[in-house]
Order: sequence, then structure tokens, then C-alpha cells
Amino acid sequence: MRRQVNPKTAADTLRRASKLPPRLAIVLGSGFQSIAQAMTVTRAVPYAKLTGFPRPTVAGHTGQALFGTLGSSSKKEILVLSGRAHYYEGHSLETLTFPIRVLAEYGIENILLTNAAGGINKKFRAGEFMQFTDHLNFIGENPLRGTLAKGRERFIDLSQTYDPVLNKALQAAARKTKTKLHRGVYCALSGPSYETPAEICALAKLGANAVGMSTVPEAIVARQCGLRVAALSCITNPAAGISKTPLSHLEVLEIGEQASTQAAKLITEFSAGKMPAAH
Ligand code: HPA
Repeated sequence: MRRQVNPKTAADTLRRASKLPPRLAIVLGSGFQSIAQAMTVTRAVPYAKLTGFPRPTVAGHTGQALFGTLGSSSKKEILVLSGRAHYYEGHSLETLTFPIRVLAEYGIENILLTNAAGGINKKFRAGEFMQFTDHLNFIGENPLRGTLAKGRERFIDLSQTYDPVLNKALQAAARKTKTKLHRGVYCALSGPSYETPAEICALAKLGANAVGMSTVPEAIVARQCGLRVAALSCITNPAAGISKTPLSHLEVLEIGEQASTQAAKLITEFSAGKMPAAH
């Protein structure tokens, strides 16, 4: 088994950038990268300086930890991880969830995970959003497998992975910003090929509303670390078989880009609200 990197080293680097950890961290996935541009950034730490952080290789994922504020009136500092690494890039689940362990070690209490996803629920339209009520982990692995991190529990309860308080706050922010925010179950697959129509048909029968290739491993590790978790998908396309046209990453990026103004409004409103303390 690989020797684990201690998250304390990277957490100390973040602490040097900002002594007091912000209450909220946001992980930006595909379709949400423009949040970084909407931020007033006070300090930026490249992932290269954060020991153990995997480097993202997907276009648009810049690989920086950004401290700053969102929106003209908010003075609340947030920490944004601009870019994530994926399982399909060849990283182990342990490596790609390492940044979450660093955030927990640093003292982050609330985390919002974002991604682009295919819509399985036929009511979902491209450019709309879905907050996670639950997930299906169909990656075929669990990020908690292997060496048990010091001081952590092995068997983690996931009966309420996505925090009701944060989900309520997201709904309130959606009402305020007139954002179409669905609720639903996200299914994570390993990728990188998109699904077949038969797979989507099966996933629909199993209760999935949206499908993607990320987020779930991070949510599981965040729960092991006691963080409150919320997760948000930008529905960039109807999933395979529901879509009349072939799926393309370009389409995912284009729709994500178009929806990004709305995403920025929603997340700005959400991040200005009161954040609860960790469990
Ligand atoms: N499937 C999997 N991942 C995705 C999709 C999809 O249709 N769209 C965006 N990410």
C-alpha cells in the first residue's frame, strides 16, 4: 500500500495564506470555472505549492486555491478550489480526494462540490441545475478503502450525505436569483466514455436523475472528515439515448459556459448566507 501524504503540510501552506479558515470552501468542476473569474481574489495558491494535491489536466481546470469574496456586497471570505482531478485521468480515489482531507485539516466546515452532469430525468433541461439529495456510487471503488487515516472512523454513515441545512440555503438562493434548481440523485461512473443508452435506461430505473464522473468520492471523504456537504450539478446535456444528438465534451463546456452567469449568481447568493458550524 502507498504511504499516505500527511494533509497537515498543505493545510499549513493554506494557513500561511490565511490564518483563519473561511467557513465555506467550493470545489469548481466543469461548467463552474467562471466563478473563479467572478471572485475578488485576495490570495491565490497554486496546487503545485500544496503538497500532495493532484494536478488537473482537463481544459479549464486551472489548479489553484483562491481566497476571496464573491459579489460586490459580501465581505465573507470563501476558499475556492479551481479545478479538480478525476478518476478517469488515472488518479487513485485516495489521491483525488486528498484536497478534501487538506481542507478538513485546515478547518473548513462546509463544502460545496460542483460539476457538469448529464440529465437522466426527462424534466431537466440543459443549463438548469440540480442539488444532490443523494447519490449512487457506481465508480466501482470506495475512497475510504485502504489505510485508515489517523483519527478517522472506518465505517461512515451515509444516510444523509448532503446536508439539509445547506440544501435549504441553496434553495433559498435559487428562489432569490430566479435559478431553476432541481433536486435529485446523482450517479457517479468512472468514465471517461459517456454512457450507453442502455446504461442510462438502467440508471433511470435505479433512481438516478443525473449522471457524471466526479464529486461522489469527495463527498464520501468529506463526510468521514465531518464536513457539511452540498453538491450541485449544472445539467449540460440530456444523457445518452435521451439526447437526440451524440454527446460531446465541447457541448458540455459550451452549455456550462452559457449557464455560468446564472451559476455565479446562485453561488454568490448562497455564499453570502450564514454558514452552519461543522457537525
Ligand atoms: N455523462 C457523464 N458525465 C457527464 C455528462 C454525461 O452525459 N455530461 C456532463 N458530464
